[in-house]
Amino acid sequence: MKKLLIANWKMNPQSKAEAAKLFKATDAAQWVICPPAPFISEAKKIVKKAKVGAQDVAAKRMGPLTGEYSADQIKAVGAEYVIIGHSERRALGETDEEIGQKLVCAFEAGLTPILCVGETGEQRQLGQTHEVLDHQLRVALVQVRGREFKKPLIVAYEPVWAISTSEKTAGLSMETPTDANELASYIKSQTTDLLKPVKVLYGGSVSSSDILSFLAEAQIDGALIGGASLKVAEVKSITKIVTKA
Ligand code: PGA
Repeated sequence: MKKLLIANWKMNPQSKAEAAKLFKATDAAQWVICPPAPFISEAKKIVKKAKVGAQDVAAKRMGPLTGEYSADQIKAVGAEYVIIGHSERRALGETDEEIGQKLVCAFEAGLTPILCVGETGEQRQLGQTHEVLDHQLRVALVQVRGREFKKPLIVAYEPVWAISTSEKTAGLSMETPTDANELASYIKSQTTDLLKPVKVLYGGSVSSSDILSFLAEAQIDGALIGGASLKVAEVKSITKIVTKA
């Protein structure tokens, strides 16, 4: 199965030794590993088949921005991808406008951006999902539309209410593959004017037990995986499942 798997490690693990174990377990061609930025160089020393990405980037190419790192800097240490606009960063106050600037920086530096979009549980219950996605995409892509970049855009559809839910029960803690497929198709329909076709991934507590049901959907081009990507056994079984499918 030719689908893309992105490992979003968030602020884990805490040691280089643990990171090394995970890099080795995840080193297969389908994966893009996004470790915390301090481990990107380490990843490049260890992985042979997987690609490496970052989890965020500054909204400017350069400048006096203490604590930030630029798209060119993460590229210089070997990142080829970068996650932008993750809901955990939006929760810290990141706006769609800033996300748009980060996208431009990533594209201009030659990185492949993975733009995260998704509605909250309340927005879903109020029937506002399409409207929310439309707004997030419109504002984030305003400076990108009509411009030619080397790399394509990847969008990760991650319903905020489905992220990091350890228990999958009926109702709003679990997205169905059919709904995710419909929304992936909607995202594609809203981005047809970009000069390169957009891939849409699904993210939200994906694990070895349900990855195939999402990836079997025609409009879902891969998965963005958080919690499960930190467990060696899970990573190995996800790789096996996706390779065999
Ligand atoms: P999760 O994380 O798989 O643990 O829900 C996904 C994400 O936040 O990108």
